[in-house]
Amino acid sequence: MCPPTYFTVEYSINPWMDPSKPVSTELAVAQWTELKETYERLGHKVELIDAQPGLPDMVFAANSGTVIDGRVLGSRFRAPQRAAEADHFRRWFLEHSYRAVVMPTRTNEAEGDFTWTGQLLLAGTGFRTDPAAHAEAQEVLGVPVVSLQLVDPRFYHLDVALFVLDDQAERPQVCYYPEAFSAGSQRVLRRLFPDAVLATATDAECLGLNAVSDGRNVVLPVEATALADRLAERGFEPVFVDISELRKSGGGPKCCTMELRG
Ligand code: ARG
Repeated sequence: MCPPTYFTVEYSINPWMDPSKPVSTELAVAQWTELKETYERLGHKVELIDAQPGLPDMVFAANSGTVIDGRVLGSRFRAPQRAAEADHFRRWFLEHSYRAVVMPTRTNEAEGDFTWTGQLLLAGTGFRTDPAAHAEAQEVLGVPVVSLQLVDPRFYHLDVALFVLDDQAERPQVCYYPEAFSAGSQRVLRRLFPDAVLATATDAECLGLNAVSDGRNVVLPVEATALADRLAERGFEPVFVDISELRKSGGGPKCCTMELRG
């Protein structure tokens, strides 16, 4: 995670971002701190990277790397305003003894558009990550990749449309908002995950799908109450966090969280 020390909304690269609206960096820091402490309370270790002045979106650490079995595929941002984030994370990985660190040659917003189910890497495209980056991820990470087409600009990254509930299960469980995907990709998702938890427009519009699950606890925005009820019916434990300030940039709990697998 990266603290939102320099968080603002000073440019707009997704429909959530309105630079004319006021943003409180202080409130963003408080909400981010609560998220970090939530993970720690749940027993997860949190590693930190230093925030950098001039990179207001660096708090969204999920966009800067995809790590599976200790192999790292870095990122390459679409927006020039975020481009410099990638190298800060690349250096973090090298300083933390990650050996296999590869930087992508195609636009690749990492866990924003790549979600590991435990068996497959689901890969979003349509707004940010180049479809050619999906093939690159398959080669670099050595995992099977399934491409999915995103169609609603509000849900510009895969991680605001879908999350994995349990990546250790024999049959991975996912939750998604069908309307964020093309008709063909909806059919792919139904085929792969016939028992998925389906989210509603209301769940999606508070960034409820930008959740982080450890297989039992699901950390999600406090407004996503209907989704939380459905998750509880399936035996998961919803854990609410307030991310209202970070949402002004189009981000939620998952965007702030890069998962270090292995
Ligand atoms: N303002 C950021 C952007 O548009 C938000 C990124 C959110 N991150 C994510 N993983 N969805 O790039």
